[in-house]
Amino acid sequence: MIRSVVRGYGAALPKRVVPNRELEGMVATSDEWIVQRTGIRQRYIAGEGETTASLGEQAARAALDRAGLTPDDIDLVLVATSTPDNTFPATAVNIQQRLGMTHGFAFDIQAVCSGFVYAMATADLYIRGGMARRVLVIGAETFSRILDWNDRTTCVLFGDGAGALVLEAAEGEGTVADRGILTAHLRSDGSHKDKLYVDGGPSTTGTVGHLRMEGREVFKHAVGMITDVIEAAFEATGTTADDLDWLVPHQANRRIIDGSAKKLGIPTDKVVVTVDLHGNTSAASIPLALSVALDDGRIKQGDLVMLEAMGGGFTWGAILVRW
Ligand code: ACO
Repeated sequence: MIRSVVRGYGAALPKRVVPNRELEGMVATSDEWIVQRTGIRQRYIAGEGETTASLGEQAARAALDRAGLTPDDIDLVLVATSTPDNTFPATAVNIQQRLGMTHGFAFDIQAVCSGFVYAMATADLYIRGGMARRVLVIGAETFSRILDWNDRTTCVLFGDGAGALVLEAAEGEGTVADRGILTAHLRSDGSHKDKLYVDGGPSTTGTVGHLRMEGREVFKHAVGMITDVIEAAFEATGTTADDLDWLVPHQANRRIIDGSAKKLGIPTDKVVVTVDLHGNTSAASIPLALSVALDDGRIKQGDLVMLEAMGGGFTWGAILVRW
């Protein structure tokens, strides 16, 4: 049985850190309000020359280095993003060119904050189907470029960054104890599309537009959707919350993360939280959180790790990985 095993990881953040206090001078907000409602203390904001593709390239190179591989070893580049450098070609193709790759294939995946989970699930299918042996899965975003910096209800929540994993085909026994992606569950429901969206696009306004969100509505649905899809992943593998070593959630909001963990009976010391450091980096948030917990030695080979995300669409999903 073929399994998709994680071989390397990498991350990249813009140079500029913006603490909550700096936003107090831009909109009517406060460090206290932001910390209490979201858990966010700072975010990184891309400057001149820093783009989704440049951050994605940096994260990809770090992941390749850790894996001891070069771009020549990669068959497929998948980039999860909602903030591409251009409408087309895909940011994945842009990164492919930056890496000097003229072989293999590359494309983007757009599932907003769930993008990285969707991209991992897609990579897993290409690997298990035999179309790719090694896949670079990248989540990269520059949400600062689609924020309305006069809207305090959204501009304080997001940040920029990128993270990447190298997934590799490995022959295994296929039991829950063996390494690799064990199960992936994806969901979407477009009836919620107007609760979190960008008010522009090539085919409507011909502009890039700005992010708009009904925050309370998103909050209301988040915990139920997240816990539902995680339970599906447990059920498919015959595992429970007790078997889990780490929950690595999409980092949108501390209250959503805590609420989901509590409902699932996962203790907070098994939950990786980086929303305080990065803000909500959409499709980049899971690989950025993974890279923090791998760098500091919390996540180790053999650990059972649940990745989950929920975002615009709505889209949501969960992936269970034996690291
Ligand atoms: N600073 C100060 N006050 C603010 C700010 C701000 N940045 N933003 C809103 N307020 C005010 C509101 O105007 C409102 O004032 P009013 O009572 O005078 O009308 C008050 O704070 C309360 O606003 P609510 O929207 O009710 O605040 P809530 O407790 O719901 O928190 C938040 C808002 C943080 C957006 C919350 O709804 C939330 O976390 N929603 C989930 C949204 C999310 O995380 N989205 C990320 C993308 S989706 C995803 O990744 C899952």
